[in-house]
Order: sequence, then structure tokens, then C-alpha cells
Amino acid sequence: MVSRVIPVDPFDLVIFGGTGDLARRKILPGLFRRFCAGQMPEGSQIIGAARSDMDDSGYRKMVADAVAEFGGGADCDNGTLDAFLQTVHYVTTDAMGEGGWADLNSRMQKDCVRAFYFSVGPSLFGPLAERLHRFGLATPDSRIVVEKPFGHDLESAKALNATLAQHFDETQIYRIDHYLGKETVQNLMVVRFGNMLFEPLWNSQYVDHIQITVAETVGVGGRGGYYDKSGAMRDMMQNHLMQLLCLIAMEPPAKFDPDAVRDEKLKVIRALEPVDWHHIVRGQYTTSGDVAGYREDVDDAKSRTESFVAMKCHISNWRWAGTPFYMRTGKRLKARTSEIAVVFKDAPHSIFGADSGRHRNVLAIRLQPNEGMTLDVTIKEPGPGGMRMMDVPLDMSFAEALGPDVEEAPDAYERLIMDVIRGNQTLFMRGDEVEAAWAWTDPLIEGWQARNDVPKEYDAGSVGPEDALMLMHRDGRKWRDIKA
Ligand code: BG6
Repeated sequence: MVSRVIPVDPFDLVIFGGTGDLARRKILPGLFRRFCAGQMPEGSQIIGAARSDMDDSGYRKMVADAVAEFGGGADCDNGTLDAFLQTVHYVTTDAMGEGGWADLNSRMQKDCVRAFYFSVGPSLFGPLAERLHRFGLATPDSRIVVEKPFGHDLESAKALNATLAQHFDETQIYRIDHYLGKETVQNLMVVRFGNMLFEPLWNSQYVDHIQITVAETVGVGGRGGYYDKSGAMRDMMQNHLMQLLCLIAMEPPAKFDPDAVRDEKLKVIRALEPVDWHHIVRGQYTTSGDVAGYREDVDDAKSRTESFVAMKCHISNWRWAGTPFYMRTGKRLKARTSEIAVVFKDAPHSIFGADSGRHRNVLAIRLQPNEGMTLDVTIKEPGPGGMRMMDVPLDMSFAEALGPDVEEAPDAYERLIMDVIRGNQTLFMRGDEVEAAWAWTDPLIEGWQARNDVPKEYDAGSVGPEDALMLMHRDGRKWRDIKA
């Protein structure tokens, strides 16, 4: 199969926090895979920058180890790794001081794209942005990439936006939400706006409700310090699930361009109604068998942070008035699965009689793993005995449907970094979007704090707390099973 990879322009990518976890797990192996795919042009450089004292060869060894541990791709081999490592450099840099900046500047090339990845805590965003200018590294076309968490609440997000805005224009700021880089998440837009079939039915007249589930099997072990201050609401709901909600609910943008898409997403967030506290369930996993409970994982026997959250919310606009959106996410659940299910209303009248039961079409889009779509369709149960009905899925696994020749999809980070180099902001969050998401989330978190809310317990390996099931049962609805 002919590769459809389009090389980007030569670039210098500086990774602040270049020795950190994210760089080792995601950014560097991802760049290597893009190199193997032929997307990283000759003359490009990757420059790790961090406080540790190291030289190029020490850093290259670290990069090689990271690639070995966290994966090259199918087309990667050792010869290619050596060539890739030649593009990698390291400059010891003090983000809060003066050290290393002049060296970093002399390492940069003229006339190529400059991107600075802030793979560091938000407290360093300001100092880094300021120094990039003071030491002459930032050019009018330079890009900065910032990681989540983008603030802790609306106030801190506004402060971060204001700090970055002192040094960079919004068109230069790339706020990463890695869910937007996932292949199937982008496919959501194509399924909705590339087909005639779905869009006419995509509204409250035909849709009974929508379910969004992002379930993980992992716990918070190793990240307890960060997580215990965040919880599922800040860690997942405010960003990843919010983005999924936007893509599933937004109006068709006039074109697939950064501001057209982000304007529509913003309208969804702003149209979200405040959530009644009876419509939110917080949960925390407890020990199950050999698996440690949340409080052991974070080493705090009294922690009230949620590792699970489920809620029902409404979007007040013409398309969605009256259609509930149920969202849930949690750690240490039964299976790792992310899915969006659009559950259509019952047919208005059954010609087969009242006892033919309830049959609903459900379009389920599986984001991960086993990316694909199923559409439940009602058919006649085969055989004699009259008109009995049953629901069967039209089941499409993308891997099977596209066959073995399909190119390996880039991981979310790889794709997003290449978009930064191309200068395409469509899959990055704009400052106003992030602020709107916090403006909606803050009162919910403040409400829990004011009520001293204690999360409901659920067994590690289960589907979450009983109350989350009740949230839907009360409405005569049911969550879909969490299965891999
Ligand atoms: C991160 C969260 O943003 O997303 C983690 O901080 C979470 O807590 C992760 O585990 C999930 O990402 P993915 O790609 O594995 O679904």
C-alpha cells in the first residue's frame, strides 16, 4: 500500500520536561514512530530541555530506553533508531533561572518551524514563556504546546491564559487534550457530517438519550499525589468527556477549520445547564481481593476524592432540549472501554401489537479498544410462532472492515504533535473553551465541598457504585454494559 504520510516542514521541537514521564512514555516514542513513517523531514531536531545534568549521548540513551520500553511501531528497526537518535539533543536548562538558555538558543536553527512543548507543571508555564522571549528563542511563528491540567478551576485557568497571552498570541498556543487526537474521536465528526443517514435523526425528536462512558481498569497508583487533588471530575470529565460531548452534540461547523469547529464546541459548553446535585454520583473504589482500594493507593485513609463520577446533564438549545446526556468515567472498573451510545426513541406505534416489547435502535461508537460502530436494528426473530421481534447489531469493527493493509493509525500524541508543526489548531482547545468548561464544572465541585460530600464506595473491578445505576433506573433507562 502506498503510504499517505505527508512529511511536515523541518522543525526544532524543544521538550521542556524532556526527561519526565510524559516525554518518555508518549512524546519521544511517538516522534520515533513518525520518524519511521517518514514524516519527520531531514534537518529536524528534537531537543530535550530539563534541569538534570546530561549531555546528548546520555539523553540519547534515555530516549533509546524509552523507545524500547514504550514502543516503536511496526516499521521501526534498530538502524532507524540510530538515525532517529542523531536528531536528538539535550540542553540542561533551568526553567526558573538563567542557566542553559543561551546554549538552547544557539542550538536552534534558523528558518524552520519552532515548537516548544511545555511538558511540565503549570507553575512553570509563565517562567518558560517569559524566558523564551527574553532569550530570543521565540519567533512570531513559534508555537507552544501546553499539557493538561490546564488550571484547577476557572480562576486558575484564566490566570494561566492571561500569563500565556502576555507572551504568545492565541494562534500560537496549542492546549492538548489527547482525546482529540484519537483516531475514532476524529471519526465521530466524519460519521456525523460525512453521512446523510445520521444527521437528520440527530436531535431530541428522535434521540431518547445519549450515553458517554470512559471506563478504565487502572487505578491511580503512582499518580496519587496529583490525582487526589483532582479527582475524576477535574482529571477526566472537565476535559476528555466534555470534548466528546461537544463533538457528539455540536452543530455542523461550516468547514473543518480551527475556529469554525471550536466555535461550535464552545456553544455546546455554554448551553449546558447547571447539573442538579441529585443527578451526579461520585464514587471511590475500595479494596477487592488483591487489588488495593483508592485510599491505600493515595495513602490517605480519609480521602474524599472521587475516582468515579456519573451524571445526567442537559443542553439547552433547539436541537437537544429534553434529551438527557448521561456521562460516566471511573478508574478500576470492570473493563477498559470508551463508548458513545446514541439511543433512539421507540417507533411511534407498533403494528405488531403491544406485547412485542420495547425495541430501540442504538448507534454505539466504540472509541477504544476495538474501535468500531454497532447499530442495533430490530428484526423478526427467525422461525415459526408469529411476529416475535429481536434486536441484532450491525457490527463493524474498523480493523476488520478496513482490512490488513490499512496503515497503522498514529497514536494521539503523534498526530497532535504533527498538527502543531503543521500549524493546525483544529484539535486543540482554545482558551475560551477551557474557561467555559471550568465555569460549568466549578459549581459542581464547590457544591460537593459545601455539602461535605462523601463518595459512594464501589468494588474495584465492578461497574461503579449502585447509585450510578440508579441514576438511570429512576428514568426508566439503563447503562450499557461495561465490556472490553
Ligand atoms: C489522562 C488522565 O488525561 O487520561 C488519566 O490524566 C487517564 O488519569 C488518561 O488515565 C486516560 O487516557 P487513555 O488514552 O488511556 O484513555
